[in-house]
Amino acid sequence: MSPRESTAVSTVYLNGRYLPVEEATVSVLDRGFLFGDGVYEVVPVYGGRLFRLAQHLARLDQSLAGIRLANPFSREEWSAMLRDLVARNGGGDLSVYLQLTRGVAKRDHAFPAGVTPTVFAMTSGLPARPAQPGVAAILARDIRWDLCHIKAITLLPNALLRQQAAEAGAVEAILARHDVVTEGAASNVFIVQGGVVATPPKSAQILPGITRDLVVDLLGSAGIPCQQRLVTLDELHSANEIWLTSSTREVVPVVRLEGAGVGAGTPGPLWHTVDRIYQDYKQRFREGRAD
Ligand code: PDD
Repeated sequence: MSPRESTAVSTVYLNGRYLPVEEATVSVLDRGFLFGDGVYEVVPVYGGRLFRLAQHLARLDQSLAGIRLANPFSREEWSAMLRDLVARNGGGDLSVYLQLTRGVAKRDHAFPAGVTPTVFAMTSGLPARPAQPGVAAILARDIRWDLCHIKAITLLPNALLRQQAAEAGAVEAILARHDVVTEGAASNVFIVQGGVVATPPKSAQILPGITRDLVVDLLGSAGIPCQQRLVTLDELHSANEIWLTSSTREVVPVVRLEGAGVGAGTPGPLWHTVDRIYQDYKQRFREGRAD
């Protein structure tokens, strides 16, 4: 554990109460435990401020609609609760994990009537920025379901794929369905070929990443167009650069794919540009000069 990760203190939110993590417990009949019947979000916090919170809460609404679960909180209530949780955990740079499940009910696959959802939120440390950027990735068949736009807590396929990557000495599995790249096991994918950036379009086969959208916007503002279009495995293999994006890891350059070097085998020039733009944006956000 890096020093930054170990500084996270642990007051969590559970069903209307703030508790030490050891005291926060849920019933074994919770449908999150029995069925994976729930959704979640991960929101980074910089300088005590929740980054892209409006976008995360909008996606949460989409996920909840996707599993037909009513949101028990308004946007303002979410915002107030999460800000309170961040403050209770010392503010600074953190990530917030929030989860809703359909609640506690007698085990039956069909939805129970009149059940109160379980609402849980906690903070964790953010991974330290690596001194040497650049990670290895593997390729894997996308074995997930047809509703990957829902940020469901049912993450067994993603966990299996990530573990496959870890066992191969890599940090991520880049997934493909029938020779078309979808996303990473816990990230979105970008490629650069001949100075042109491309990322798979939004569909039910990928999570609409908040970081992905921000990177597309930041590239556009910098005059670097980004195509949102299907990316084939052939294009991935011949890409000059591959990037992965996620709220906790930001924009990560992939320098090895299936053991072979990507481009020159080091982070490419456009990654350096996008990383600088992203870090600038974060800094302005920290100082209250960007949303
Ligand atoms: N995962 N695709 C998948 C399957 C993901 O799980 C994630 C994020 C992303 C990137 O989305 P965003 O930019 O909104 O973080 C794409 C989070 C971080 C997690 O599960 O911990």
